Amino acid sequence: MDKHYWNNTAADYDAEILDSINTDRKRIIQRRLRKFYNPEHRAADFGCGVGKYLPALSRGFKSVYAIDHAGALLDLARTECDKRSNVKFIEADLARQSPKMRPVHFAVCTNVLIMPDEKQRAFILMNVYQHLVRGGHLLLLVASAESALFANQRLLEWNRRCGVSRREARKVMIKPSFDALNGVIQREGVPHKHYLREEAIVMLDAVGLDTLGVDRVEYPWTTEFDDPPKWMKAPHPWDWLITCRKR
Ligand SMILES: C[S@@+](CC[C@H](N)C(=O)[O-])C[C@H]1O[C@@H](n2cnc3c(N)ncnc32)[C@H](O)[C@@H]1O
Repeated sequence: MDKHYWNNTAADYDAEILDSINTDRKRIIQRRLRKFYNPEHRAADFGCGVGKYLPALSRGFKSVYAIDHAGALLDLARTECDKRSNVKFIEADLARQSPKMRPVHFAVCTNVLIMPDEKQRAFILMNVYQHLVRGGHLLLLVASAESALFANQRLLEWNRRCGVSRREARKVMIKPSFDALNGVIQREGVPHKHYLREEAIVMLDAVGLDTLGVDRVEYPWTTEFDDPPKWMKAPHPWDWLITCRKR
C-alpha cells in the first residue's frame, strides 16, 4: 500500500475506493464536521485522496491543507477544487516526513490508517498530532474490526440461505491474513488494518488525544458485497468515527 498502489487507483478511484462522506447513510460525518466549522480556523485533511472531504472543509474553515503522498490523486483533487481558493495542496509522505504547514485547529484523517505496517500508522498519527494546536480537534475514521467480522457472518448466512453447505460457505469467507488477530483482514486481496472500538480509543489516548465521542458511520451492504440479497438490511456495515481533542 505504497504511493504507487495509491497512484494506480486514480484511473478507477470511484469504483475501487469507498467514498465515506457521500455513502454515510445517516450523514453523521457531515453533522460532526459542521460542529467544528469556524471561519477563522485552519483545517487539514491528512491523506485527502481525491478530495472528497475538501468541499465541506473549504466551506467551513478559513483555509484548508490537503495532504497526500499520491500525486495522481492530488491532481484529481486539485481539478475538483479549482474554484476553492482557500485549499492548499501538499504532496508529502506522512509516514516519513513532516509536511511544511502551520498548525491547524481542526483535522480529518479518514480511512488512511489502514496499512498493515504498525510503524507507518504510528508515524502518520504522530504527524497529525504534531500539526494540531493544543485543544485542536481531530475526526478520525477507521475501518471497524467488529463490522468486518459481522460482514463475514452475513456472508455465511447468505450462502446458507442459498442452500450452500457450511463447509462450502466457509471457503468464500472474508480472507484473514498473517496478522488477523490484530485486525489485518484482506479486502480484494489487499491486507487492511481494522480496529476494535476500544483499540482505537486506547491508540489515540497513547499519543495525547482524548476521545470525546465515537459514532458508527453506516454504509449500504453494496459497499461490502456485489448485489446483496434484499433481506440483508440493518445492521449495516460500519466504520468507527472518533471525535478527539489534543490534550
Ligand atoms: C482510502 S484513501 C482515503 C482518502 C480520503 N481520506 C477519503 O476518505 O476519501 C487513503 C488515502 O491515504 C493516502 N495515504 C496513505 N498513506 C499515506 C502516506 N504515507 N502519506 C500520505 N498519504 C497517504 C492515500 O494516498 C490515499 O489517498
